[in-house]
Amino acid sequence: MKLHRNIALGIISGLEKTLIEKRPAADVLKKLLKINPIWGSRDRRSIAQAFYEIIRKKKFFHALTGPESEAENLWNLMGCWMVLNDFPLPEWVEFKNIDAEEIKAKAPVLVLDRKYKYSIPDWLDQICEEAFGEEIWEKEIESLNTPANLIIRVNTLLTTVEKLKEKLLKKYNIITSIVPDYPHALVFEKKQSLQKIKEYREGWFEVQDANSQKISPWLKPESGKYYIDACAGAGGKSLHLADLTKDSAKIVALDIYPAKLHELRKRCLRNKIESIQTVNVDVKGVFKTLKHNADGVLIDAPCSGLGVLKRNPDTKWNLTPERLTEILETQESILQTYAPMVKKGGNLVYATCSILPIENKLQIVKFLSSKLGSKFELEKEHTYFSHLTDFDGFYCARLIKKM
Ligand SMILES: C[S@@+](CC[C@H](N)C(=O)[O-])C[C@H]1O[C@@H](n2cnc3c(N)ncnc32)[C@H](O)[C@@H]1O
Repeated sequence: MKLHRNIALGIISGLEKTLIEKRPAADVLKKLLKINPIWGSRDRRSIAQAFYEIIRKKKFFHALTGPESEAENLWNLMGCWMVLNDFPLPEWVEFKNIDAEEIKAKAPVLVLDRKYKYSIPDWLDQICEEAFGEEIWEKEIESLNTPANLIIRVNTLLTTVEKLKEKLLKKYNIITSIVPDYPHALVFEKKQSLQKIKEYREGWFEVQDANSQKISPWLKPESGKYYIDACAGAGGKSLHLADLTKDSAKIVALDIYPAKLHELRKRCLRNKIESIQTVNVDVKGVFKTLKHNADGVLIDAPCSGLGVLKRNPDTKWNLTPERLTEILETQESILQTYAPMVKKGGNLVYATCSILPIENKLQIVKFLSSKLGSKFELEKEHTYFSHLTDFDGFYCARLIKKM
C-alpha cells in the first residue's frame, strides 16, 4: 500500500477522535468516510483496515515505538503498522522516530508475551486469565482480536434465507454462506456497503451477528403473547422477536435513549413490522402505565462489551476496573427494575455481549439470592464463546418466575 498524505491525515484524525477523545470507533470511521467522498472503494477498505488494526494492536505498537498518551505518537502507531505490514514508509517528518529495523527485531520477542501479542490491558488480561484459565483465555482473545465478518439476519416475514442468498448472488454477484445451527443467518464472503442493495433498503435483512441471533429464541417466542424488551436499543433483538412471532405478538421495546428507539421505529418501517411498540423509560410514570404481566422479559443488559471486541476493539482501551464496577451495579439495578414485569410462569431472559462471569453467571447468582430473585428459578444458561463459534461472545440465561 502506498500511503497518500490525505489518507494518512484522515486515519490520524480518526485515531485522535477514537483514542484521545474516546469516541466510538465505528461512529468515527463512518463519519470519516462520509466527509471524504472522494476516496474510492479500495482506499476506503484500506483506511478501515488500517484504522481498526492500529486500534486493535495499540499496546503492541506503542511498546515497539515509544510510550503512549502523547497525541503525536499516533504517527508512531501508524508508522509501526506500515513497517510490520511491509509497506514503504514515506519520508515524512512525522515518521522521523520510526526505526524500521528495530521494530522488526523487537516484534518477534514481544509477541511471546500474550499481553502484547493481543494488545490487552494488564488488569483485563489478569481477570480473564483467572476467570477462564490460560489456555481458554488465549484462544478466546485470539478470536476476539480477529475482525468480524459481515453477517446478516434474514427477515423471514418478507423472504427466505435461500431466496435472499440466490438474489444476492444473481443480482449483485455477492457470495454468502449459510451457517449450520443459525437458521436465519447469512455470512458475506466480503465486507461491503449495503446501501446499494435494494432488498436491504426494503427490509429483507438486517445486520446482526450470528450469536446475537441466538438470544431472542431464549424467550421461547409465540404469536399472540406479550413480551418486553427492556434494553432494546436500536432493536436488533426486538426485530428478531417480531420475526419469530410472525409479527403477531405484542412487543414493548424500552430504552433510556429516545434516539435509539427512533432508529428502531425506522427499522420497523423498513422491515414492515407492526407488532413493536417503543417506550422511552425516562418518561415519568411509564412503569405504572406499562402492564406488568409479560409472558417474557428480555434484559439485553448494558455490559463491558468484551464479547464484541471483534467489531469494537476500542472497548479494550475505554474499559477500566472502575467502569466495570459501574456496569455491574447498573446490571444489578436493571434486573431488579424489570424482573417484576414477568408474569407467574413467564420467562426472564438475561443476556450480555460479554463473556465475563462477573457480568453473567455471578450476576444471576446475586439476583437469585435477592428477595425478588427468590421468586425465580434458573432454568438454563450458556456462554457463546467466540473461539468456539467464530462469532461474537455472548451470555444468556433463562429464569422462570415461580410465584
Ligand atoms: C446491549 S444494549 C442493547 C442492544 C439491543 N438489545 C440490540 O439487540 O440491538 C443495552 C441497552 O440498554 C439501554 N439501557 C441502559 N440502561 C437502561 C435502563 N435503565 N433501562 C432500559 N434500558 C437501558 C442502553 O441505552 C442500551 O441501548
